Amino acid sequence: MPIKKVVIPAAGLGTRVLPATKVVPKEMLPVADKPAIQYVVEEAAASGITDITFITSRNKRAVEDHFDDQPELRAALAAKGDEGKLSKITEPSTLARFNYVRQQEPLGLGHAVLMARSVIGNEAFGVLLGDDLIVHPPRPGLGQLIDVHQRTGASVIAVMRVPREDTARYGVVTVDADEQLDARTFRVRDTVEKPSPDEAPSDLAIIGRYIFTPRIFDLLEKVEPGAGGEIQLTDAIRELSRQEPLYAYEFEGMRYDIGDPVGLLTTSIAFALEREDLSPQVKAYLRTLDLE
Ligand code: UTP
Repeated sequence: MPIKKVVIPAAGLGTRVLPATKVVPKEMLPVADKPAIQYVVEEAAASGITDITFITSRNKRAVEDHFDDQPELRAALAAKGDEGKLSKITEPSTLARFNYVRQQEPLGLGHAVLMARSVIGNEAFGVLLGDDLIVHPPRPGLGQLIDVHQRTGASVIAVMRVPREDTARYGVVTVDADEQLDARTFRVRDTVEKPSPDEAPSDLAIIGRYIFTPRIFDLLEKVEPGAGGEIQLTDAIRELSRQEPLYAYEFEGMRYDIGDPVGLLTTSIAFALEREDLSPQVKAYLRTLDLE
């Protein structure tokens, strides 16, 4: 069955980008002139997704409002005959059907995904993290995972190769060389959270795109709270790899992480440089900088 539903967890505290995230959700911070989460929703829509469930919380009203209609602003722009700006504000609400589920306390990414169980039901679904952006792919990031799911019927997680010295920042997969489907698709045997370079079983790091069979919900129900009392998605993924086939797909494209100040800034510059309307001025500015 084709994947039609995804979950986008957006109920975290975003503490690494304070004070910007004191009242503005991290996922709503702009990358060039668009909130980060809109790129993620566009990727889902371009991958054939029709139903998106956001996991939100008390401080995340802006996410709901962004993907809703704005009648006053729409009327004002229509009265001015400004079709360009009008389409910019109407487009987000047309990208998919949206649901919102509240996570009352930020009890971890695993807990956030579990909140969507009643909306997703008993079918395979995708998860996209609102602070991971993927660009320049031949096919949208999530769509690449959907292709692997169509071939295998199994859960699929996106991975990227990282320098050995960086493995301690990621979840890393142990893969089975005998069961590799092709150059980019690996059978996962285990996962290790934030291993040191010496202990890392591979250089394949897990990033924020996943396709899960509904079994993940049963496993999330059983995960014990870990560091900081949080229910970790990686613990359930680890168990999943032991119970049923799980594939890691080395996705094609570039991944940007807007979850910290440097990532937010560099992602904005990278995205602006790709835009015909913005890049000449941004390049001109960058050339004026005296960078030693
Ligand atoms: P992160 O760990 O990157 O986000 O979670 P965070 O907790 O908001 O960030 P810091 O560490 O405090 O800066 C990855 C994604 O999971 C969501 C976040 O909103 C983010 O998009 N998340 C995390 C939830 O929805 N609920 C949670 O309890 C935790």
